[in-house]
Amino acid sequence: MVDARFDAVRRDEYGYLDEDGLVYLDHTGAGLPARRQLRAHADRIAAHCHGNPHSEHPASVASTVLVERARRAVLDFFHASPDEYAAVFTANATGACRLVGEAYPFRRGTRLVLPIDNHNSVNGVREYARARGARIRYVGVSGPDLRVDEAALDRELGQRRGLFAYPAQSNFTGVRHPLEWIARAQERGWDVLLDAAAFAPTNVLDLAAARPEFVAVSWYKVFGYPTGVGCLLARRDALARLRRPWFAGGTIEAVSAQGGWHRMASDESAYEDGTLNFLSIPDVEEGLAWIDTLGMAAIHDHVEQLTARLLAGLARLRHRTGEPLVRVYGPTTSDRRGSTVALNILDAAGDVVDERVVARDSAGAGLCLRTGCFCNPGAGEAAFSIGRRTLRGAVLRTAASGGTLDDYLTRLGLPSGGAVRVSLGLSSNTADVDAFLDFVTRTYGDRAPDARDLAPRLRC
Ligand SMILES: Cc1ncc(COP(=O)(O)O)c(C=O)c1O
Repeated sequence: MVDARFDAVRRDEYGYLDEDGLVYLDHTGAGLPARRQLRAHADRIAAHCHGNPHSEHPASVASTVLVERARRAVLDFFHASPDEYAAVFTANATGACRLVGEAYPFRRGTRLVLPIDNHNSVNGVREYARARGARIRYVGVSGPDLRVDEAALDRELGQRRGLFAYPAQSNFTGVRHPLEWIARAQERGWDVLLDAAAFAPTNVLDLAAARPEFVAVSWYKVFGYPTGVGCLLARRDALARLRRPWFAGGTIEAVSAQGGWHRMASDESAYEDGTLNFLSIPDVEEGLAWIDTLGMAAIHDHVEQLTARLLAGLARLRHRTGEPLVRVYGPTTSDRRGSTVALNILDAAGDVVDERVVARDSAGAGLCLRTGCFCNPGAGEAAFSIGRRTLRGAVLRTAASGGTLDDYLTRLGLPSGGAVRVSLGLSSNTADVDAFLDFVTRTYGDRAPDARDLAPRLRC
């Protein structure tokens, strides 16, 4: 059932989209701010003085009070008890992953297990593991839905322990990976880092039920504003097992410059380096209040309906010959998936239209979407069916010859460097979905794509 409230929300809170004639289809890149959030920010900082939270004076205390209120709101949002979980403010989800990676007790004999469907901000944790002699094991995805091979995952989790890191929702295919894996891994002695960056904007995450050791989120993905603020939610028992490789202002209880000694703070501040973003962190409370006003369950249903409309529309898109106009990577129904849809456009001969052509044409038409591999190389490799041996050969030969990214992609035999990603969120509406379907039909249906003047690719 369509929730008419979202039409009013679009008009009143996200009116800048239609006023600017933009079709915003990059919610996995960033959510959008409601106008009320921006007003609340301006009103708050214009009305009172807020100082650096590390002091006792009134302006400082004013900041501390708001930061601690935001911290409490974050825990409440995830149904996490403050006795069990700490909410550490970070710059983003990447910062949260790095905190875990750099301080996790990896050593020889421990393992890091990752599905290949992971964002680079989680893949990067492997470099900390590798540096400390831990083994890194990737688990593949299979089938047309590109879901993780559960038998292979079980085999890996049956081995020596360590850290299991996975996304609750793929930022490439939109696949929702089961939260049940958390308990399954923990029963076998693993710690779990759950990357909730793509999941949290449209799903309820109940930490009292799921209980992962670590969770990474970026708030701008959930409600658009503020940017530069994320969280590491960490179970206090797991946090106590981490060992930070350094200290900084704000993270210590005591330190001696000449004595070469320091004691870390005993709470979450041990993980908050330097001065917090104290003018923006209170906006997290505003954002969470806005999500609560709408209700996460309602947001979930709204976005799920739009995704179903998009998927059904894509399945109907055909060339006059009857050949499909798009190829979707990942699930083509709403079953266990979110609102991120990766695809390529196909020409009448069935060949992939270079995603740079689509990036250029869609931008020209006022559509905001993402192209490339979305910092998720593993999902991309699986989507394009590129095997490990081919990858290794292409990496080695490109490195040896000092080749470009385009050389690398050519060695992989890819006609196009990546996919096109359309992602929906709480401010999306049916007109956005229809505008994309219409754009694809008008621009590529029975027409040879214009591939002139494309710039070389600079990054994956
Ligand atoms: C699944 C996932 N994890 C992690 C990240 C990293 O988020 P950020 O760049 O905000 O740190 C993203 C960003 O797109 C993501 O989609």
